[in-house]
Amino acid sequence: MDILTTIKQHLNTDFFDLTVVDEIDSTNRVVKQWGKEGKPQGSVLIARSQTAGRGRLGRSFYSPKSGIYFSILLRPHLSLKDTMRLTTAAAVSVADALGEQAKIKWVNDIYLHGKKVCGILTESAFSGEKTDYAVVGIGLNLTAPDEGFPTELNEIAGAIFDNTPTEEQVAHLIVEILSRFEKAYHNLFDATLFETYEKRNLLQGKTVTVGTLSGVVVGINEDFALLIKGEAGQIHTIQAGEATIGSAAF
Ligand code: BTN
Repeated sequence: MDILTTIKQHLNTDFFDLTVVDEIDSTNRVVKQWGKEGKPQGSVLIARSQTAGRGRLGRSFYSPKSGIYFSILLRPHLSLKDTMRLTTAAAVSVADALGEQAKIKWVNDIYLHGKKVCGILTESAFSGEKTDYAVVGIGLNLTAPDEGFPTELNEIAGAIFDNTPTEEQVAHLIVEILSRFEKAYHNLFDATLFETYEKRNLLQGKTVTVGTLSGVVVGINEDFALLIKGEAGQIHTIQAGEATIGSAAF
């Protein structure tokens, strides 16, 4: 049975309309186009590999056949600030689908056993102050590529499975993520989203550097901003950025 049929068989909702392709440049690019064209929310494009996968902060996202990549089209009415909740809902859904060990590295990377196994990129289009549509893209490293991860990713990247999973296992993982995400999406302002996110915070208690600031992570606030305690004991609220574990020498 192909992966699409298996996913459809197990997905207990008609919220999603799924398309599977072997290879595409970027599922986020295509699904953003779908958003412009007026496709309904819940449309999902799944690709077995990407030739031009996009990451956060304008980076590329390495997307070989040893992973799986998908983007979900949504039409929420959110302010710019609240679009972050889509990313956190996706992060919590992926982490919960992966089990107890999975951690979330603020804002949106999923770590297993100290290595990044999933990246999430949310891109939104606005009509006035509210979102017209949003695309949540999720990239999963199922296994390490046969040739290994590229040198620059070697230290950071890890995989969900030690050995190549069956199509059934991959389908099952996608079903677990999508069904959790649908629930979280319909409850974006529910306290459980924040509580689960906080519980899985990889950075809690760690010394990190964000931009020019270093300090110890003391938590996340209800807007999913990172709270860092500086040397003088003052608490800094960081809304966005990239946190690196360790203290930078300036
Ligand atoms: C990151 O870690 O910087 C975010 C990576 C997001 C990658 C996913 S894979 C599916 C979707 N399509 C893309 O081009 N990017 C996202």
